[in-house]
Amino acid sequence: MSTTTPTQNDSPQFKRDGAGNLDQTLRPEHWDEYVGQAKTKENLRILLTAAKERGHAAEHVLLYGPPGLGKTTLAHLISKTLGTNMRTTSGPAIERVGDLAAILTNLSPGDVLFIDEIHRLSKAIEEVLYPAMESGVLDIIIGKGPSARTVQLELPPFTLVAATTRISLLSAPLRSRFSGGTFRLEFYTDEEIVEILTRSAQLLSMSADTAVLRTIASRCRATPRTANYLLKRCRDLAQLEQTALTADIVHRTFTLLDIDTLGLGAPDRAVLDVIISKFGGGPVGLNTIAAATGEEMSTIEGVLEPYLIRQGLLERTPRGRVATAHAHAHLHAN
Ligand SMILES: Nc1ncnc2c1ncn2[C@@H]1O[C@H](COP(=O)(O)OP(=O)(O)OP(=O)(O)O)[C@@H](O)[C@H]1O
Ligand SMILES: [Mg+2]
Repeated sequence: MSTTTPTQNDSPQFKRDGAGNLDQTLRPEHWDEYVGQAKTKENLRILLTAAKERGHAAEHVLLYGPPGLGKTTLAHLISKTLGTNMRTTSGPAIERVGDLAAILTNLSPGDVLFIDEIHRLSKAIEEVLYPAMESGVLDIIIGKGPSARTVQLELPPFTLVAATTRISLLSAPLRSRFSGGTFRLEFYTDEEIVEILTRSAQLLSMSADTAVLRTIASRCRATPRTANYLLKRCRDLAQLEQTALTADIVHRTFTLLDIDTLGLGAPDRAVLDVIISKFGGGPVGLNTIAAATGEEMSTIEGVLEPYLIRQGLLERTPRGRVATAHAHAHLHAN
């Protein structure tokens, strides 16, 4: 697997303010900065503290939920709590069995291995992962044909933290091996988002009153990453116009970004619009919606739909997707 080193730009006129990587700049570094997800946090606290007290590697943990809700951030916090290194990789990056073998054999005892997008691991690699997770061994086949033999390597104890936006694509045997628990991250309440935005505004040296942050919270799809992104876009406009972060600036930013009062963007509205105006409100199959909107099925299912369902705009039925009366009213009003 290749690793890349980002090019450094140390020129004095370009200060790093996180414009390049917002997630990293604003990522919580301590549990008390990680807002919400109270149940998951409490379960992890018990799991990690108990493992640490026993002097064992913590058991494997699976985190799932829509993008931007804090899975990667939690993985960082887990490794920080255990006081060990975190190795990061992702499903698509592990192409061959040898890639996984190299990663596993290079771990130090107690390390956290973070596999992002674990639903994209191939079946052949999953098979190698099972014994590694369960009994801490790696089965390697040496040679080919009748002379092939299996060699078993003992691995250092490690904790696998895996993340996915598509838990339904994980095989049952893989799911069952997360003995430390499977945790679903929830969408955030407006109050929680305001708390996150207050911290972000401080880190970005902005002064913003709560009313303004509330407006951003109401349109961020209940998602911290989106909230932080919107805060920065509002800051850009305020800076260009040399004004404070006012309600007017926030409203104009939303208009520019084409984000409506429920936080829906053009792709969300396109999904609802196809169901309503082309298929009489549904039910419509996912593949038909994908073809009609030009979005990938996985984007619709993993990224767009969860929020539409949460807002009561869309329903999944056995015969397909149905737009609710609320969706009809919302599209009509906008
Ligand atoms: N609970 C939280 N409290 C405060 N900030 C948060 C929280 N969760 C997420 N964030 C913010 O949102 C950003 C995105 O979170 P993160 O990268 O962990 O999401 P993710 O679930 O891994 O998304 P993806 O599925 O796209 O990988 C973080 O960098 C952080 O700034
Ligand atoms: Mg992530």
